Amino acid sequence: MRILSGIQPSGALHLGNYFGMMKPAIELQVQGEALYFIADYHSMTSLFEPEVRRRNSLDVALDFLACGLDPERTLFFRQSDVPEVTELTWLLSTVTPMGLLERCTSYKDKIAKGIAASHGLFSYPVLMAADILIYDSNVVPVGRDQKQHVEVTRDIAIKFNEIYGETFVLPEPRIREEVAVVPGLDGQKMSKSYGNTIEIFGEEKAVRKQIMSIVMDSRTPQEPKPDADQNLAIRLMKLVAAPDVAREFEDRLRAGGLGYGDLKKALFQQYWDCFAQARGKRAELAANLDYVDRVLRDGAGRARALARTVLDRARKHAGLA
Ligand code: ADP
Ligand code: TRP
Repeated sequence: MRILSGIQPSGALHLGNYFGMMKPAIELQVQGEALYFIADYHSMTSLFEPEVRRRNSLDVALDFLACGLDPERTLFFRQSDVPEVTELTWLLSTVTPMGLLERCTSYKDKIAKGIAASHGLFSYPVLMAADILIYDSNVVPVGRDQKQHVEVTRDIAIKFNEIYGETFVLPEPRIREEVAVVPGLDGQKMSKSYGNTIEIFGEEKAVRKQIMSIVMDSRTPQEPKPDADQNLAIRLMKLVAAPDVAREFEDRLRAGGLGYGDLKKALFQQYWDCFAQARGKRAELAANLDYVDRVLRDGAGRARALARTVLDRARKHAGLA
């Protein structure tokens, strides 16, 4: 089984990225041949500062490796180190119906957030399809917001296969329903573009302050809270704490007697402990950038060889070779 996923280097990675995509992807590494990449071509649709892209790409590499991506097992690389994917994007775009892209909600969402409408932003699902199809990927672990793009990928692959003969493997999205949408500090979906994120490797004081500022209701600590499972701090606690610890806090909140201040303090502590080991690993990696660079170069070399095979197959079927 080939497992593939990518993440854009568009800012500091947060708990939504971690629980929605990175953790499932890291856990899947042992079940097959995994390829994970830093989607720097994709970031060009919304980020126009070269130095920021470079720095973010390095940060994503450090974050992913610190969180447990195992480069002995998994190919880890920068998308742009496999330029074959842009050629495949062209081949795919010629069989992609306009209507298919027009139905993608992410384009409209991004425009609504103020990102400039460009051809690249509109056609980005075709690049994503090429990312997936060029490695004969079977499984794509992503958060729920990316499901539509994997479905588009399947449609494009089916279309190409119909026109030019069996060429591409059809991939399946893999979405963890329990963490499909991680809530942010304001209760909406956690997202960089909503400014409601908790960073995986946030600075201690800053994250403590963010968590302590989560707005709750005005019920007194003593009051029982039958809706304890809806409480934002409890929902986040369920992600970062051991199940029995999270359940204990939920029960105490439901019964009454647990104040919101104490709950938020506990949430911060659980968050901090959850990433303690990874934080140490990240600091080691940051002091050994040559190693990180080697990992990415080695990953790219091996990914490129796989990509070449599939691209050659597609070129041949399309009469280009
Ligand atoms: P953002 O919304 O912060 O820009 P991205 O769109 O770059 O995040 O998402 C990268 C990956 O993380 C995707 O697979 C996406 O589905 C996942 N992801 C992002 N935010 C969340 C969230 N709040 N809950 C679950 N998964 C998420
Ligand atoms: N579009 C994804 C996002 O914004 C990132 C991505 C690019 C991706 N190519 C991919 C994810 C291929 C999975 C597979 O989060």
